[in-house]
Amino acid sequence: MSSHTLSVKRLTAPEIRARKGKTPLVCLTAYTTPVAEILDEACDILLVGDSLGMVVHGLPSTIGVTMEMMILHGQAVMRGAKKAFVVIDMPFGSYESSPEQAFQNAVRLLKETGAQAVKVESGPTVHETIAYLTQRGIPVMGHVGLRPQAVNVDGGFKAKGRTAKERDIALQEARDSAQAGAFAIVVEGVAADLAGIITAEVDVPTIGIGASSQCDGQILVTDDMLGLFDWSPKFVRRYASLREQIREAALSYARDVASRDFPAQQETYFTK
Ligand code: KIV
Repeated sequence: MSSHTLSVKRLTAPEIRARKGKTPLVCLTAYTTPVAEILDEACDILLVGDSLGMVVHGLPSTIGVTMEMMILHGQAVMRGAKKAFVVIDMPFGSYESSPEQAFQNAVRLLKETGAQAVKVESGPTVHETIAYLTQRGIPVMGHVGLRPQAVNVDGGFKAKGRTAKERDIALQEARDSAQAGAFAIVVEGVAADLAGIITAEVDVPTIGIGASSQCDGQILVTDDMLGLFDWSPKFVRRYASLREQIREAALSYARDVASRDFPAQQETYFTK
């Protein structure tokens, strides 16, 4: 281990939890080593989100994401992140059938990647799983509101909290997740007033995505905020226009190759 590695102190789950009501937590998704390396300085938390199925692999939803995909990307992110707390998503099908199944797969994710915590999407029984994992040494982040892994029962990616029933479910699941021991909770796709109520009711940080500034922190899918897609949801602010920049760069390269302007003398090896 190099002295540089030793000198960088990585954030911990108790430190993240202690940020409740304090300076907002800065969180982004990461899936690769170079991007994790770049984001590390700015972020408290890097999430190896199962959104990688859609963002990196072009899948229509997160349903097809496997443990193997999460492990490969988790390992890549851990090679780049030095300071940020790294959370890895449990993919669909890896934790729902029993707390024991969740424990086995969470252990695998943490052992094989070195990530520090897992995230599970909520559901009527997920608090039992959160309690089971946290009691056995695994920090867990909850996820309420819009649950991308519920895309097939919901019939699409639908914002939540529009009806009284949906509001009650999101609030109850947040309460249950916090009580079960989650150190933080992602709140996705809910209106500002509900995000405010959830944030006031739970004693752990809420991390919003499409859930207003009422939360204790914010997360975005990095590729969305960098402008890598031609469409992004209303809640995304674009901090760069990489899609256009990459397109222009590729077209310039194509022109230079076609005209033999590239490679030039300084880009060429010569025999001495
Ligand atoms: O998978 C993911 O990227 C997520 C974030 C959107 C919170 O769960």
